[in-house]
Amino acid sequence: MRLVGIGGTFRKDSFSMGLLKAVKELLPEGITFEILDFKDFPPYNPDIEIPEEIKIFKDKIKQSDAVLFSTAEYNYSVPGNLKNAIDWASRPYGDNSFEDKPAAIISESTGQLGGSRAQYHLRQIMVFLNMHPINKPEAIVPFAQDKFDEDGKLTDEKTREKIKELLEALAKWAERLSI
Ligand SMILES: Cc1cc2nc3c(=O)[nH]c(=O)nc-3n(C[C@H](O)[C@H](O)[C@H](O)COP(=O)(O)O)c2cc1C
Repeated sequence: MRLVGIGGTFRKDSFSMGLLKAVKELLPEGITFEILDFKDFPPYNPDIEIPEEIKIFKDKIKQSDAVLFSTAEYNYSVPGNLKNAIDWASRPYGDNSFEDKPAAIISESTGQLGGSRAQYHLRQIMVFLNMHPINKPEAIVPFAQDKFDEDGKLTDEKTREKIKELLEALAKWAERLSI
């Protein structure tokens, strides 16, 4: 199973990116994982020719068996850079790279709700993208600043365990949907 990871803010010590990096250590057997980069994407504009790096981003999503989002919460929603990348990948009309993909979400914030509002906003976006996110387990990481060591490694055992459970559930879900 090929899994791609999308998310993280552009902050050097981004916790949402730190969670995606931790996924590499927590993958069940038989899953390959690549974190996709979108930090140099221009603001979505259908009038410009689609840049090469966005074509590659779209292809990698299309070739994947499942998509894992890791999102921070900005003003009760997903960060604009993530939404911009999603908008690019969903267009042009009729060429939605996310079409019919199984998915899972990890959300985090430094507050006590762990980005849960962003997580539900992303679920709403996924309706139009026609994605199929798993419902349980919910991977919500509150007080993210307390879950990493000074090198940016995810050290919180409960969070590591939750991500493992999420990945196992996503693998099963992707397999069910592929039948
Ligand atoms: C512009 C902005 C808006 C934010 N809005 C919220 C918010 O609505 N709810 C919340 O819990 N945290 C909010 N935060 C805090 C971030 O979610 C938190 O710092 C998160 O860990 C940032 O992710 P990162 O470490 O990947 O950069 C906001 C931060 C910024 C910069």
